[in-house]
Amino acid sequence: MRIAIGCDHGGFVLKSAVVEYLRSKGHEVVDFGAYDGERVDYPVYAEKVAKAVASGDCAKGVLLCGTGIGMSIAANKVKGIRAAVLSDEFSAAACSAHNDANILCLGGRVVSPEKAVKLTDLWLSTPFEGDRHVRRLAMIATLDERK
Ligand code: RB5
Repeated sequence: MRIAIGCDHGGFVLKSAVVEYLRSKGHEVVDFGAYDGERVDYPVYAEKVAKAVASGDCAKGVLLCGTGIGMSIAANKVKGIRAAVLSDEFSAAACSAHNDANILCLGGRVVSPEKAVKLTDLWLSTPFEGDRHVRRLAMIATLDERK
């Protein structure tokens, strides 16, 4: 799978761990930066990753900042994006099974690199359940049209 990834300074350590994990699993990773721990503005990276996913250039995306919250708020402004911020295993599986989340947001000040890898693995390996959730995602999509 072709996966976009981006971070700010708060998520830089997690990015290195998640990129290494994704590549070890054979995924093609498109790294939109940041490429070091210098202080930067997370909306810049959220927009790049969200647009790569929304355009279909990448199938999914991962965004990492201090909490994951700012990245998720920014990414969800882009039409077609369903970005989920979380820090526990149940939510990592549920955001795929129920919400078909196409971007995962994690916080470098919330989870360890090891936990970030585990949550990424759960998110990617859990299939979307479809069924009643299709109708709900369609309802969410109409919010994009009514902006
Ligand atoms: C940067 O200090 C911090 O605000 C950012 O990484 C993130 O946590 C925002 O939601």
